[in-house]
Amino acid sequence: MKRVIIDTDTAGDDTIAILTALHHFQVEGIMITGGNVQFDQQVENALYTIEVAGKSGQVPVYKGFEKPIMQTGEMEHRTVEDVHGSDGMGNSFFNKAVQRPEEVHAIDFLIETVHNHPGEIHLLAIAPLTNIALAIKKDPTIVPEIAHLYIMGGTNNALGNITPAAEYNFFVDPEAARIVLNAGIPITMVGWEMCTKYSLMFDSDHEEIASLHTKGAVFFQAVNKVVKEFNKTVHRLDGTTHPDTLLMAIAADDSIMLESNFYYVDVETAGEFTRGYSIVDINGRLEKPANVRVCEKVDRKKFKDTLFNVLSAIK
Ligand code: BDR
Ligand code: CA
Repeated sequence: MKRVIIDTDTAGDDTIAILTALHHFQVEGIMITGGNVQFDQQVENALYTIEVAGKSGQVPVYKGFEKPIMQTGEMEHRTVEDVHGSDGMGNSFFNKAVQRPEEVHAIDFLIETVHNHPGEIHLLAIAPLTNIALAIKKDPTIVPEIAHLYIMGGTNNALGNITPAAEYNFFVDPEAARIVLNAGIPITMVGWEMCTKYSLMFDSDHEEIASLHTKGAVFFQAVNKVVKEFNKTVHRLDGTTHPDTLLMAIAADDSIMLESNFYYVDVETAGEFTRGYSIVDINGRLEKPANVRVCEKVDRKKFKDTLFNVLSAIK
């Protein structure tokens, strides 16, 4: 089993992604970074998700940075309760889990764990990249010891979701994304457009999920209530999106990616309309060496099977 560390801003799809990771990997710990909803709520959401998976007390949760690297004026951190509900869980307002977060800071946990298992730790990033960037800054010697970094973030020159140009995770902390992308870690990136093309769960899929009658299926329906309506009205999408779960599925089974290519990828940090936009240099115009394997096509059926297997297994 792959040893992994998850970095999440736990709300909505992050929770299903965590369940997927707990099903497939040896999860060394879960780090929380500022993102989707209020920070302490995200911590509670991660702890509750561990409980749903039946692993209470077995997977430690570490608090990281609550805010992005730059956070003044127009860069003020933006949460998205309109997407995931005020609790980030589709307005389900679950009870507090029994497990509590650890005292150690997330990036100290990350640095120590990577050094204890050089070449073995896979990082699964489903949130703004603040924690990972600041861990690299604190101790750059972790870079050659990280086995692989999977990032849900950015787009491959496609439409954003939080602005016309930017995907949310890169938009929240473009400076962090720039540090991480250029650090020299082997990276696989799954952009937002892969999620709108291949991860959508339509009404008929939701009906199938409901018919599973498992704890996992009930939880899935609860946390997806608000995003379903949001996608319909704002993104004109006829289904729920599962970007973070798609990333986990790919990390678990590379063959879910039908096409991928290596490109130079960087992030716009200064643009008036394009802050957080990821540039993917498909034609090599910047003449820089490729730093990211970019996912370009997904086997939707395999992804759906992965999701259904996870939801079925949580009784
Ligand atoms: C990303 O933004 C968040 O709202 C989701 O959890 C996902 O990680 C998609 O842009
Ligand atoms: Ca997320």
